[in-house]
Amino acid sequence: MKVRKAVIPAAGYGTRMLPITKAQPKEMVPVVHKPVIQYVVEEAYYSGIREILIITGKHKRAIEDHFDRSDLPKRDKYMEELDKILSDVNIYFVRQREQKGLGDAVRYAEAFVDDEPFALLLGDTITLPPCTKELIEVYRQYKTSIIAVEEVPKDKVSLYGIVACKPIEDSVYLIEDLVEKPSIEEAPSNLAILGRYILTPGIFECLKETKPGRGGEIQLTDAMRLLNKREKMYAYLFKGKRYDIGNKVDWLKANIELALEDGELAGEIKNYIRSLEVSLRT
Ligand code: UTP
Repeated sequence: MKVRKAVIPAAGYGTRMLPITKAQPKEMVPVVHKPVIQYVVEEAYYSGIREILIITGKHKRAIEDHFDRSDLPKRDKYMEELDKILSDVNIYFVRQREQKGLGDAVRYAEAFVDDEPFALLLGDTITLPPCTKELIEVYRQYKTSIIAVEEVPKDKVSLYGIVACKPIEDSVYLIEDLVEKPSIEEAPSNLAILGRYILTPGIFECLKETKPGRGGEIQLTDAMRLLNKREKMYAYLFKGKRYDIGNKVDWLKANIELALEDGELAGEIKNYIRSLEVSLRT
């Protein structure tokens, strides 16, 4: 069955981005020309998806406003591009009533997803090139849940969900187990879940059976662990860039790197960075 739907959880507190996120959603934090969530919606769109559910919550109204059609008289190419996408996709919103974790947020997507496989994209994460497009291609071959992973340094494994897996073909692994934020000693590998998934609807039954885990939150990784006992699941090694805009260093890096790739901004920013290099050396 084709992957036609995307779910974007965007209801988290964003405490690591405070005070930026005191009164605005972290998904609305700008990266060069656009708020983060727009990159995520565009990723789903350019991966061929036209039905998108965004899971919002308290203090997140700006996200809904952003995806309204604009009636501003002044338009530029960025506004035109956004309008073009908006005229071509259906975006729905549902509110997570309490911030009880990513797993809990995903539960709100059950009615929208129904009995189809779906793409799950974290609303605070940018991947370039679009990871979802690659996952959908792998899904066509394996027709079951596939989780994007990236290699992280050994001393960083305790920050991520980590998979235990065995290689099947280039960049594809069969998942044997998953563990949320393990210690260095416990970690079965250094392959970390990066925030892009294709999941079968079987995940919803698993979420219902998942008890609050780390931090008292319903952890998606715990539910996927259960799903892995019932269905085959694969990991896909994504070789592109991913930025977790939920932390300040990644957010700043994303701004610098994407500005350096922007036709209009690159020249000035390069000159500016070169001038910094001189002052950094002295
Ligand atoms: P994070 O682990 O980054 O948590 O969520 P957070 O609460 O947003 O941020 P911090 O840790 O307080 O800084 C990963 C993804 O899960 C969503 C977030 O919006 C983000 O896309 N999420 C998390 C929810 O939708 N609901 C939740 O209750 C928790």
